Amino acid sequence: MRKNIVAGNWKMNTTLPEGLALAKGLDEALKGKSVNCDVIIGTPFTHLASIAAAIDTTKIGVAAENLADKESGAYTGEVSAAMVASTGAKYVILGHSERRAYYHETPEILKQKVLLALAHGLTPIFCIGEVLAEREAGKHFEVVDSQITASLFDLSTADFGKLVLAYEPVWAIGTGKTATAAQAQEIHAHIRQTIAAKYGKEVAENTSILYGGSCNAGNAKELFSNPDVDGGLIGGASLSVDKFLPIVEAF
Ligand code: 13P
Repeated sequence: MRKNIVAGNWKMNTTLPEGLALAKGLDEALKGKSVNCDVIIGTPFTHLASIAAAIDTTKIGVAAENLADKESGAYTGEVSAAMVASTGAKYVILGHSERRAYYHETPEILKQKVLLALAHGLTPIFCIGEVLAEREAGKHFEVVDSQITASLFDLSTADFGKLVLAYEPVWAIGTGKTATAAQAQEIHAHIRQTIAAKYGKEVAENTSILYGGSCNAGNAKELFSNPDVDGGLIGGASLSVDKFLPIVEAF
């Protein structure tokens, strides 16, 4: 059975003291509560080790937001999968549209990052999604298919089964413009079919597919009530406990 997941993506926000306070605040808020989804927070590299040590990581998983596409060595400023894994983080967000657009991450680079993450025991949360012009041209299905195929479809069935996917339409990220529940369901079901055609129905049924893009306390319940929407990847609303907790509780 696939898992319901609510994951925060803090992006390049919070200093270390601010991030620690946010993580501890969420940890405190979840104490004694039983929630119906896995909770993950994606934080800057600089925060991972301190946050993993400060919270109950059996209740809140910790994710990096990126990884190097090389194993180790003379790559000044890069952070490897082994380094991330050594902090206590268990997840890594890969293929975010901001990294594709601003840092020129190609499907081939992302393929390497996914392989390195898996080799070091990290669960990739792999992001896909179309820009507005592609949606308006009716190309959104083929865009997500090609993103999935190019970066993920050389994986073994066992490795593919370890992934979490996140559909994030670029036009909905940080814009306040959310995909409708019907738009999200339609493309999530399509993504699941694409997975089923390659890896079989069982793998597809067991893959969690999250929605991301202006998801908040007001729309999470409706989005998550769709059969193929297994949770959310949350940007802005993950930066305060008051905004994030109701999304976690939307399940
Ligand atoms: P917002 O929730 O701020 O739109 O960001 C979504 C996102 O990019 C999560 O990865």
